[in-house]
Amino acid sequence: MTVVVKEESKSPRARLFVALDLPDELREGIVEWGREALVDPALRPVAPESLHVTLAFLGNRSEEEIEEIAAVVREGAGPAPWVELLEVEQRPPRGRARLYALPVLSPGTEALQAGVGQGLVEGGFFKPEKRPFWPHVTVARVRPEGRGSKRPAVVSEPPGKLPEGLSEARICRRMTLYRSELKPTGARYVPLAQAELPG
Ligand code: 2AM
Repeated sequence: MTVVVKEESKSPRARLFVALDLPDELREGIVEWGREALVDPALRPVAPESLHVTLAFLGNRSEEEIEEIAAVVREGAGPAPWVELLEVEQRPPRGRARLYALPVLSPGTEALQAGVGQGLVEGGFFKPEKRPFWPHVTVARVRPEGRGSKRPAVVSEPPGKLPEGLSEARICRRMTLYRSELKPTGARYVPLAQAELPG
């Protein structure tokens, strides 16, 4: 019997996503708030350089597609959106939290996501989720309850309110295609291509 291995399954894969980067000032503000707000030992705060708004999660793609995907991202560069951070929310909303995120109020980000998302769909690189786009910045993930457990630990001290200055609208001028490298210590996000957003 001859076993035919599809060419596709042999090519090296990359876990890819497209994100809106936050201005340094906003990332620094989140980090400063997090020093007092994300202190529960069950929480694993997201590293400062990894704070972003995911626009499209592409999952595992062939490395050979990266150049084409990067071109779609550059072509999808729409006007730089203004973003306003809202108060922290847990996901899922009830029961034990798996993550904490700052939702983002930003029609401009929704427009950018729709544009770049459409380009990626047309290229066959992205299958949009059935649920509506939820723009947010994940600030912490919850550690598992025990070794090898899938259940998140209990968070006794959930993050509190943002300081006033942090919810002021800020403009975001860059969109990036990232490769996510999963490590035992957490994910590392490597920028592969960037688009400066006009405006
Ligand atoms: P999150 O911050 O809401 O967890 C890299 O992993 C980025 O892609 C993260 O910002 C993460 O969003 C997002 N991501 C990871 N897995 C995903 C999935 N299955 N569906 C949608 N987004 C995902």
